[in-house]
Amino acid sequence: MKMKKIIILVGARPNFMKAAPVYNELKQINKFKTFIVHSGQHYDKTMSKVFFKDLSLPSPKIYLGVGSGTHSEQTARVMMEFEKVCIKEKPDLVIVVGDVNTTLAGALTAAKLCIPVAHIEAGLRSFDRTMPEEINRLLTDQISDFLFTTCEDANKNLLNEGIPQEKIFFVGNTMIDSLLKHLAVAKKINVLEKIGLDVERYGVVTLHRPSNVDDKNNLQKIVYAISEISKVVPIVFPVHPRTDRQLDNIDFLLYDPEFKKGIKFTKPLGYLEFLSLMGGASIVLTDSGGIQEETTILGIPCLTLRENTERPITITQGTNKLVGTDPKRIIKEALNIISKPEKPKSPDRPKRPKYWDGRAGKRIVRILKERL
Ligand code: UD1
Repeated sequence: MKMKKIIILVGARPNFMKAAPVYNELKQINKFKTFIVHSGQHYDKTMSKVFFKDLSLPSPKIYLGVGSGTHSEQTARVMMEFEKVCIKEKPDLVIVVGDVNTTLAGALTAAKLCIPVAHIEAGLRSFDRTMPEEINRLLTDQISDFLFTTCEDANKNLLNEGIPQEKIFFVGNTMIDSLLKHLAVAKKINVLEKIGLDVERYGVVTLHRPSNVDDKNNLQKIVYAISEISKVVPIVFPVHPRTDRQLDNIDFLLYDPEFKKGIKFTKPLGYLEFLSLMGGASIVLTDSGGIQEETTILGIPCLTLRENTERPITITQGTNKLVGTDPKRIIKEALNIISKPEKPKSPDRPKRPKYWDGRAGKRIVRILKERL
């Protein structure tokens, strides 16, 4: 029997931990010949290479090297380079992951060449079309053949958009597969020592959404809120490159000469280091999508600095709360959490969302084995 060729296309930091469990499962099936193509959307070592090492993924077979650019430039460049790969390799399936520009570009390229597309993490919707990721999600799902979802609200969103039921597969969350697999190893890393912090309690902040960081005034307000919180509990802030650029423009002395004192800024951390850091935190403040899910499983209170989320299950069944970006509200909600005694942190919380159990990758591969 001829082996079926599968390409997994990844490109940006949040893709890698979602793709790894599927890659590892596919590798165990004789029927499939699987390899990874990396678009190069994220290219810094700290944003890409370290994740391959931490997740024990092999280096990508093909690196497209597209780099940064405007949305259209980046999407178009991935399409142009990935099309050459698809024409040469003639895969039987292209797997795309999440909601980044690489995801849409890969799906569109494959669909136009009549190559079936599988989308991991289909159906999430913020219903906010000013978010570039929402456009990527909507369009990728319309042209995918296998829509692998993480939660039941995603299934409903897809059905509401006219996607036939037989294309939708509720399999669970591969990002949580990676988390559960690596948590024990991550816990052994003394990340606080590495970043030079000797404290019992701390909070973690991450920010990278264009709506929060591209506008100087928005970022200034959020950083002010963080500095107020850091007077009560020290804050570790691994800084995304997009945010780093804008932080240079922030006036740190505008509100308070002690402004930066309680905030420990670091470079972006690797997968295991960040998992370790997040796992020990008393509170996480973020605008990331994935971190809302990870804190839900870790049982860590999470304040999401956005007006909406495409992951409402993290609010209804998890530890997440949407607080927007008004500094007064952020400070109030954070101090409210910090002032209460901490609940024991455990990934074995009874209210874990359905199928966030470490077996989503296995479910995906079982379906592909049957149907491809
Ligand atoms: C992208 C995704 C976003 C995801 C995020 C995770 C899209 C539309 N956005 O946003 O959904 O949550 O990744 O990080 O796909 N840069 C570097 N080094 C890198 C990569 C980027 O310095 O390795 C800088 C560049 O100046 C670049 C900027 O960061 O212009 C933004 O990178 P880009 O990939 O365009 O978007 P992200 O904000 O990372």
